[in-house]
Amino acid sequence: MKKVIRGEVVSFGEDLRVALHFEKGAVAVDERGRIGWVGEAAKLPEGWRSAPVEDHGSKLVLPGFIDAHIHFPQYRMLAAPGKDLLDWLRRFTFPEEARYADAGYAAAAAEAFLSRLFSHGTTAALAFCSVHKACAEALFTAATSANMALVTGKTMMDRNAIPAVQDTPETGARESEELYHVWHGKGRNRYAVTPRFAITSSEAQLKLSGELLASLPGALMQTHISESAGEIAFVKELFPTSKDYTDVYDRFGLLGPRSIFAHGIHLNEREAKRFSESGSSVIHCPTSNTFLGSGLMSMPYLRDRARPVSLGIATDVGGGTSYSMLQTMGETYKVQMLNGYKPQAAELFAMATIGNAHRLHIATDTGSLDSGKFADVVVLDPEATPVLKARHALSQSLEDVLFALMILGDDRAVAATYVAGACRHGRTG
Ligand code: GUN
Ligand code: ZN
Repeated sequence: MKKVIRGEVVSFGEDLRVALHFEKGAVAVDERGRIGWVGEAAKLPEGWRSAPVEDHGSKLVLPGFIDAHIHFPQYRMLAAPGKDLLDWLRRFTFPEEARYADAGYAAAAAEAFLSRLFSHGTTAALAFCSVHKACAEALFTAATSANMALVTGKTMMDRNAIPAVQDTPETGARESEELYHVWHGKGRNRYAVTPRFAITSSEAQLKLSGELLASLPGALMQTHISESAGEIAFVKELFPTSKDYTDVYDRFGLLGPRSIFAHGIHLNEREAKRFSESGSSVIHCPTSNTFLGSGLMSMPYLRDRARPVSLGIATDVGGGTSYSMLQTMGETYKVQMLNGYKPQAAELFAMATIGNAHRLHIATDTGSLDSGKFADVVVLDPEATPVLKARHALSQSLEDVLFALMILGDDRAVAATYVAGACRHGRTG
């Protein structure tokens, strides 16, 4: 059904700046859930004037957030106090992920996971599943009914974990291929070949991962890289002839524009150069990196003009401590301040929307409020809490309003979330 969403409309561009701003704006949504028109509400074209209006007054109407790295089977295990990444994986994470062998458990969890994303204003995601095929099936099924843009895959891991979360190179590749053929391109779903990381995938599994990526048209690849000191030392032991961590993946054809690597905190010059040349992306996960004591990823270092690396930002729940992309932007700001770089709020909102859409190769359909894209929208209330309300009274500019929201906001600031034009959370105005 056609509808018009009204409010202060703001959207961002690839140059990481505000691209659209209508103080009294409107987003007109067509019968397919796509944006038919966007502009000043007073100039709404004739064809939309009889459509129902969902009026959010002076609240902000923005493109929905895109989480570029999150773990579905960790949806309830936030705040697990590991000593470091490897201890956290071993003691808390692998046992929790083992539960997702059960299709019924995974189906109930998928519903809870998606409603958690929507209540935090997230409308699209690149997610890890567990090693179990049933887990990926549950998440794809739930995402299809919500008509959301979901990129995910069955995690492949054939060593250095408990048996309940291990596959083999052959079963991992076969199940990945089966899932790709059923789900890739169904609704708004996309498949990502998902070797967990070099510690839990043998050479044989990494080799098959590279072959899958090359042979499955349109598939993405996601994994982890260079997150913690203990992890890097273990990778060196496992792959003694590789030049460095990046070279491990590079040797198996896993770098490229469709490859998305979480963390990349400790990449050296040579590695950053290979990321830049190959068009591979690094996803910054600040709440996870500080929580697990992994390190402070530097955006200015990775963006060095001599060899710029494409960057995204993400929650990394359950290593990350919040589902909120507002909190994630706020923590990105703080981590970058510790690196001597002061990001603009508009820059971080752009990274969390259109930037991540590009990293995930879904920007033709989402990530900004442009005509023709799906109406994936978050409505933010800059006065949602007493602290935000008091601070908002001092705001002098849109940048200032966005800045206060990312430092002080969380799911309480999310007044409504629309996925392909359908309200999935909150009030319709
Ligand atoms: N490296 C390998 N697996 C994981 C995971 O589940 N979370 C994080 N943060 N890092 C990882
Ligand atoms: Zn992760």
